[in-house]
This record gives sequence, C-alpha cells and structure tokens, in this order.
Amino acid sequence: MSAYELLKTVHVSSAALSIAGFVLRYLMMLARSPALRSRPARVLPHVIDTVLLVSALAMAWMIGALPPWLVVKIVALLAYIVVGSIALKRGRTLAMRAGAGLAAIAIFAFIVSVALTKSPLGLLDGFARLS
Ligand code: HEM
Repeated sequence: MSAYELLKTVHVSSAALSIAGFVLRYLMMLARSPALRSRPARVLPHVIDTVLLVSALAMAWMIGALPPWLVVKIVALLAYIVVGSIALKRGRTLAMRAGAGLAAIAIFAFIVSVALTKSPLGLLDGFARLS
C-alpha cells in the first residue's frame, strides 16, 4: 500500500467516525442527555476532525493541485462544522437545533458524493446535465 493509499484509508475512516459521532451526539442532544457534555463527547470530535482534515490536506499536497471539487469539499466541510455546531449547541430552540442537525447530515452526504464523483456538484451533477 502506498503512502497515498494509506492516507486515503485514514481519511475515509475518520470521515466515517466523524459522521457516526455526529449522529450519536445529535441523538443525545434530542434526548437532552447530559452525556453530550461529557469529556469524550467534547474532545473526541476535535481529534477525529483534525485527522480527517490533516489526511485530506496531505493528499491534496501530494496531488500538487487544488481542483474545483477539492475547493468545494473544503468549503462544504467548513459548512458542516458551522451547521453542526448550531445543531449541537448554538441553536437557540430545539426546532432550530433539530433542523440544523438534518442539514449537517445532508451536507455530509453531499461531500461524500463530491468525493466519489470528483465533480464540484457531486450528486447534483446529473440534475445539472438534464437541464
Ligand atoms: C466531511 C468531510 C469529508 C468527507 C466525508 C470526505 C470523504 C471522502 C471519501 C469518501 C473519499 C474516497 C473517495 C473514493 O473512494 O474515491 C475521499 C477522498 C479524498 N478526499 Fe475527502 N472527504 C472530506 C473532506 C475532504 C477535504 C476538506 C479535502 C480537501 C483538502 C479532501 C480531500 C480528499 C482527497 C484528495 C481524496 C482522494 C481522492 C482520490 O485520490 O481518489 N476531503 N474523501
């Protein structure tokens, strides 16, 4: 396995852990569980998301280019983080937090589709071609 393949495995694994952890914390938020404020629930996401981003940047550096689909992934990752934090803590009402959580999951699914298609439109690419 090349270094690039290893980084890709680390990247995809940390992406899976990131969304699994987010859904878990989202359910804790909806259930108003105090576990949401526990140390692992506060610290682990930062560790996982750092590994996700560092492996991504290392691969981008190895590719030696920043094609549009990678720029879209970076911007969408920032949106996932901001909308995710509204869902887990910053949203003022439960309805706001619940809606933001669904939006964060949708953004994550979009990022995966951008990764698989290597198109900046991701799964929306097919629709764009139809019109
Ligand atoms: C939540 C955020 C992210 C998710 C869910 C995600 C998901 C994925 C997935 C599933 C793959 C594997 C695609 C395949 O099997 O062909 C992948 C590959 C990759 N991602 Fe991400 N990614 C994220 C963020 C980023 C960011 C911010 C960057 C930009 C620096 C990035 C750069 C890459 C690169 C360079 C590859 C390898 C492409 C290849 O050689 O096939 N990813 N990502």
